[in-house]
Amino acid sequence: MTNNTGSRKTGGEAPLLSGRHLTKTFQNSNKRSFNACDDVSFEVYPGETLGIVGESGSGKSTLMRMLVGLTEPTGGEMIFLGKDLGAIKGKDAREMRRHIQMIFQDPGTAFDPRMKIRDIICEPLLNYRLIDKKLKDETAEKFLHMVELPAGFKDRYPQQLSGGQRQRVGIARALTLEPELIICDEVTSALDVSVQKNVLDLLKRLQKEKGVAYLFICHDLAVVEEMADRILVMNQGKIVERLPGTNIRKAAKEPYTRKLIDSVFEPKSAIANRQNRQTDI
Ligand SMILES: Nc1ncnc2c1ncn2[C@@H]1O[C@H](COP(=O)(O)OP(=O)(O)O)[C@@H](O)[C@H]1O
Ligand SMILES: [Mg+2]
Repeated sequence: MTNNTGSRKTGGEAPLLSGRHLTKTFQNSNKRSFNACDDVSFEVYPGETLGIVGESGSGKSTLMRMLVGLTEPTGGEMIFLGKDLGAIKGKDAREMRRHIQMIFQDPGTAFDPRMKIRDIICEPLLNYRLIDKKLKDETAEKFLHMVELPAGFKDRYPQQLSGGQRQRVGIARALTLEPELIICDEVTSALDVSVQKNVLDLLKRLQKEKGVAYLFICHDLAVVEEMADRILVMNQGKIVERLPGTNIRKAAKEPYTRKLIDSVFEPKSAIANRQNRQTDI
């Protein structure tokens, strides 16, 4: 696809997305205000993977929800392709949001169980009137092929697929609008280790082919390290550390990050136990 940012992966270019001082305030059950996201600033560059890691409740999904317009920020701004996402409205906002897609943790509940895979994949294209209904079969087959699923899956319902296969359909659907950015929120967290690896490999291959950037959100530091070029560590709504995508054990300085690292890189025996677990493919 063409866009006015020029070619991707050129290096040294302008950010695709900037979050500036993003804050979201909620009230807890005692009516006390707290910041689920607290002055979060970051950049995502074209074609890269920015990882966001942090324990459950650290504010990762709240950040994602603000970026895709599901939650309004209490403060701060989001600049995408040079435009302030909070300031553009209506048709323009809809057009901008086309370029940011998302993939969720549980593809089982993300899809309408009454819709066939063909319709799930083609829905965004039909919503944006980018294809004619007559092209649904052909389009579904093309995207199923892209995510290494058989063409015949187009006639199936989501519950007739395994978790890993459903996640591939989620990826196919996210790709249909040729986004510049895909936000992946815990996309492999519901999958077994071996299936997880296949899905991560697929995401990497697609990034190489299409130059799409990922904002890769996950509580598992090992998975984030495998995927990301750069990593932000979140704790209680704040970014507590910024790390490179490799050698994080050496680079990490903050006690919170060190704790996360210790919990992930367990003794060898525990890892062996995890890998020996029964897997469903
Ligand atoms: N709509 C909401 N109303 C009140 N509190 C919320 C809401 N959404 C999330 N929270 C709270 O904000 C904090 C961060 O949640 P979340 O962004 O889902 O974290 P993560 O994705 O890192 O697990 C949690 O304490 C959560 O309970
Ligand atoms: Mg979450």
